[in-house]
Amino acid sequence: MAANQPAEATVEWWRDAAIYQVYVRSFADGDGDGTGDLAGVRSRLPYLVELGVEALWFTPWYLSPLADGGYDVADYRTIDPAFGTLAEAEKLIAEARELGIRTIVDVVPNHVSDQHVWFKAALAAGPGSPERELFHFRQGRGTDGELPPNNWVSEFGGVPWTRLDDGDWYLHLFATGQPDLNWAHPAVRREHEDVLRFWFDRGVAGVRIDSAVLPAKDPALPDFTPGTDPHPFVDRDELHDIYRSWRAIADEYGGIFVGEVWLPDAERFARYLRPDELHTAFNLGFMSCPWDADLLRASVDDTLAEHAPVGAPATWVLANHDVTRTVTRYGREDTGFDFAAKTFGTPTDLELGTRRARAAALLSLALPGAVYVYQGEELGLPEADIPRERIEDPMHFRSGGTDPGRDGCRVPLPWTADAPYAGFGGDTEPWLPQPESWAKYAADLQTGDPDSMLSLYREALRLRRTEPGFAVVRASGEAAEAPLTWLPSGPGVLSFARHDGLICVVNLAGPPTELPGHTSVLLTSGPLDDEGRLPQDTAAWLRS
Ligand code: GLC
Repeated sequence: MAANQPAEATVEWWRDAAIYQVYVRSFADGDGDGTGDLAGVRSRLPYLVELGVEALWFTPWYLSPLADGGYDVADYRTIDPAFGTLAEAEKLIAEARELGIRTIVDVVPNHVSDQHVWFKAALAAGPGSPERELFHFRQGRGTDGELPPNNWVSEFGGVPWTRLDDGDWYLHLFATGQPDLNWAHPAVRREHEDVLRFWFDRGVAGVRIDSAVLPAKDPALPDFTPGTDPHPFVDRDELHDIYRSWRAIADEYGGIFVGEVWLPDAERFARYLRPDELHTAFNLGFMSCPWDADLLRASVDDTLAEHAPVGAPATWVLANHDVTRTVTRYGREDTGFDFAAKTFGTPTDLELGTRRARAAALLSLALPGAVYVYQGEELGLPEADIPRERIEDPMHFRSGGTDPGRDGCRVPLPWTADAPYAGFGGDTEPWLPQPESWAKYAADLQTGDPDSMLSLYREALRLRRTEPGFAVVRASGEAAEAPLTWLPSGPGVLSFARHDGLICVVNLAGPPTELPGHTSVLLTSGPLDDEGRLPQDTAAWLRS
């Protein structure tokens, strides 16, 4: 408990916080039914304190038929009974806060579940009804309306329209069970503002905004022609007015936002981070960057350059619940991002991937800004192979079974090596099968092993909190000077100084490299060679 500062101690904590992503269903199972739950999270709060994270982001924990792992919300004001109750969520938020850990919840404005009362009412009310105006219902094209209303493509692949027996089609940019809301309707705006207040009133410190660039649509729902501007459903200007009204609500509570803003254009990206809009956005460009010094350096530079004009802090992300786990990705020949281009059985070298993931951890934790750690990254979990008949992710099914989908990074965590199901919770098999190798990654085995991934993360997060050179905001509340200065280095090596003498060096591709001048080595991701040089795929933190 003593390791973390009290929650009140830092101003603008979100500018350089270490935030841990909890995928509740797979984190820890408190009641032993095979599904992770809030009781499980509460029982593991001491672990999270010891890990040294300052906030938890919970992927959706609301009532949901789980057609897309909870990103199909049936009721924002109810916790899914598989996870617990609202009273438990309130307790969890309060207990975590007592321990110095803030809570971020996930809000999904683009769509709801087809089990949401609004959608059920819209189905019952029939074509042309006011209830259908909350969504995007349209007549089809073709002689008998048998063709979808436009040519859009689903984010999960395929046609984003489903036809009902009454002849109407409804739009769903994701799975069939996720009808898109009509953000031009005032009731949709009012409802979400109310949902934000509902959770801020319960003590949450922030809200993650799912698919933040998708909710607004061109009301005519025209065909998409590549190259035309504005896009009929991506990054529309109307969104900024919506997020300004959200910001006003967050400001009443001192709450913050982190947007899932996937946009290649730096200037368009930064618009979401203007001072009266979102506080932060995920750095998905950095997450998708291959293990390559030049590309990573360019990604860091671009990130800092695009955030600076709007005064927003960068975020650094290596993994989340949508992408292949780092140790597997970095062990592949193509180390880049693979949201939609995964295939079954792509070869990987886990030893190499682990070495790189350790070095990448020190790189991302040394960069100026907030950093996200996805549950299991700290255990060095690889992507799991899920037997086809156990796959649940709609992405797999919408790809026609060619893409394994995202379940492989969502496998229940191993806590105790010699307990059933690696100590996930009980005697019931977890909702997704764990690979046989899972027990060797168990948190209890890694605790106390100085060479484990868990020990590396604990030590890195401890240094990140205690070394003044890492702070983006000083204890006084003032911004720290120059965020980062590149130091001369050989090809394939990244070397940079933060402030207060702190240096990070990562050797991605070069021969063993001399460390720059320093007075002490704070931490390395692997052993130095006999001459004190930094081997390939290794990182070091130094003080000079
Ligand atoms: C985001 C989520 C992803 C979900 C999608 C639809 O990309 O991270 O898991 O499937 O939105 O809500």
